[in-house]
Amino acid sequence: MAKPWATFGIDLHLEPAGPGLRRGLTDALREAVRSGRLAPGTRLPSSRALAADLGIARNTVAEAYAELVAEGRLTARQGSGTRVADRAVPRPPARRPTPRRPSGRPRYDLTPGVPDLASFPRAEWLRASRRALAAAPHDALGYGDARGRPELRTALADRLARVRGVRADPGRIVICSGFAHGLHLLCDILRARGARTLAVESYGLAEHRDLIERTGLRTTPVPSDDADPGDAAAVLLNPAHQFPLGGVLRPERRAAVIDWARRTGGLILEDDYDSEFRYDRQPVGAIQDLDPDHVVHLGTVSKSLAPGLRLGWMVLPPSLLPEVVEHGAVRSVGVLEQLTFAEFLTSGAHDRHVRAARLRYRRRRDALVDVLAERALDVRVTGIAAGLHAVLRLPPGTEQSVVRAAAWQGLAVKGLAYFRHPAAEVAPLDALVVGYGTPPDHAWTATLDALCRALP
Ligand SMILES: Cc1ncc(COP(=O)(O)O)c(C=O)c1O
Repeated sequence: MAKPWATFGIDLHLEPAGPGLRRGLTDALREAVRSGRLAPGTRLPSSRALAADLGIARNTVAEAYAELVAEGRLTARQGSGTRVADRAVPRPPARRPTPRRPSGRPRYDLTPGVPDLASFPRAEWLRASRRALAAAPHDALGYGDARGRPELRTALADRLARVRGVRADPGRIVICSGFAHGLHLLCDILRARGARTLAVESYGLAEHRDLIERTGLRTTPVPSDDADPGDAAAVLLNPAHQFPLGGVLRPERRAAVIDWARRTGGLILEDDYDSEFRYDRQPVGAIQDLDPDHVVHLGTVSKSLAPGLRLGWMVLPPSLLPEVVEHGAVRSVGVLEQLTFAEFLTSGAHDRHVRAARLRYRRRRDALVDVLAERALDVRVTGIAAGLHAVLRLPPGTEQSVVRAAAWQGLAVKGLAYFRHPAAEVAPLDALVVGYGTPPDHAWTATLDALCRALP
């Protein structure tokens, strides 16, 4: 059986398109053969499998293979596939990889936030898209309901109730282009109502804080283990999986924040961004179920499928629905995308995709934990029960130097300080936030290696 591509540990640094793509692939393979990283006799993946993994045309891979066959570095035989030629090139003495200057595009990427884009279910999505378009009535192509296509809102209501315990009437769901768009709409509305402050957790995404502040609201930090957003008009939380720390909102804090909302009329914005990925324990239900009149439940496909789809949803309290619908910035997602996603959900393709992705990410997470246990004894891994990122706690005072060392390895990774609210009062922690979903399979082994070289 062919070895899985990931185990070759080849680092491919490819141009996104054009002749540079084939040249980059050919050079990377040539270098791997020349350096002995691809041993004589090793069977390469089929051009179809490698093309699918890299998300490039099969012809590009076939042409790269053909060039290396012509050079005598590979052999291609009917029935036994493409292999590294026996003793194609004398093996040079093993060299330690030379660090790259920290400039330009990173060679390895562990930035949290992006799933493995190479495993987007293209064939299933295409099938869903064809079926959806064939079945769509003519009037589906009009402006339609500002909340979004009813097929999608109904499919989402079913899924959210089944998987997240959300009390979701399709009539109270509004489709938006991702979480950030929904957050923007809600901030505009809060601001128009006269709100001044939105509470956020002490650690979170700076991009979301900036977005909130651009609408004219101030953000105030609350520690993740504190229940009280004070006199803020609303609070933004990730109850199922805090980003980036990785914890779950404890039951007493769930109850306390619901009490706060009822007492003050405040709004809870529940960012349920990666709840599909749970590994070691039962999924934690959504907080919206505790009080659908005070919680907006927001979801997105950015982790489960791809952020480029720009597809998300809000389950709204009745009191907010008319303002959101009248805002004018809805109808932001094309109907064909909406109908495709509805078909993807109802056909079961989404459940199948998430199950397979969960398994893949769990394996990556386990590999990360194992390699750190072996090679980075001063590092403690936390926040690994769910999601696509882990928090690597570092010895005090070392975060900045580790981030710098990573940059010298050509590795993009964020320190925890990057996510800290500038006015946070909690004691700073030294840590790295490692997005293990990001690298494509073919770069995973080399990326882990680069990480270990940067760690104390
Ligand atoms: C904490 C958090 N919330 C939400 C999102 C998704 O945002 P969007 O749907 O705008 O892509 C992300 C994606 O990185 C995230 O990290």
